[in-house]
Amino acid sequence: MDIYYRKRAEEYEEIYYRDDPIRNEEQRIIVEAIKKAFNGMDVLEIACGTGYWTQFLSETAKSIVATDYVEEVMQIAKRKKYKCPVQFQKEDAYNLSFGNHSFDGILANLWFSHVPKVKIDTFLEGIQRVLKPGGIVFMADNNYVEGSGGELVRKEGEEDTYKRRFLKDGSEYMVLKNYYTLNELFDIFSRYDKGLKKKNIFYGKFFCYVIYRMKDS
Ligand SMILES: C[S@@+](CC[C@H](N)C(=O)[O-])C[C@H]1O[C@@H](n2cnc3c(N)ncnc32)[C@H](O)[C@@H]1O
Repeated sequence: MDIYYRKRAEEYEEIYYRDDPIRNEEQRIIVEAIKKAFNGMDVLEIACGTGYWTQFLSETAKSIVATDYVEEVMQIAKRKKYKCPVQFQKEDAYNLSFGNHSFDGILANLWFSHVPKVKIDTFLEGIQRVLKPGGIVFMADNNYVEGSGGELVRKEGEEDTYKRRFLKDGSEYMVLKNYYTLNELFDIFSRYDKGLKKKNIFYGKFFCYVIYRMKDS
């Protein structure tokens, strides 16, 4: 997956500029939800990629530590302009280097779908550790739309699914990509926020997002 994102860095953001009014409207809904959720907060962004969402986040956040495992995508993110202080740092989403209770909020967009099912709890427990009690987690992701973003591939005996992707140079990759129903998202994230309601999950045609709060304890 690292090689894929290294090579895809320069063409990555094309996915956000497709000529589809529903898609564009859902992206706008996500942007507004991010700005509202993180107003005045110190935020950790996981898998920030080229900084597409970081820009919107910076409009209301107090500060951002934007992280990714791939340097090439962060180089693109560093070229952008932000409206609050943004520090970039290489981090592995499964093994965060930050101390306990370091952040008011965590943003991780279009990342959860790439987490192998067997690593979901490792990832969610890791972000829970670095979040302050009462902190907010926001994750937006893709919904499955037939014919969009390459062929969906199932491998026998595996619970994860994959997308067959081609880059402009013709190279082909199998990228782990899991899609979830609204009920599946609710079941997963209820384990981390007992007060989670289905209304905390936006489930559109192309995108979904979940927003949940770490319990105060
Ligand atoms: C689909 S992109 C999402 C980028 C950005 N959040 C967005 O929505 O535009 C997934 C990102 O995960 C990063 N990534 C892959 N493995 C990672 C890991 N173990 N820890 C942190 N980031 C990782 C990739 O480099 C890539 O930038």
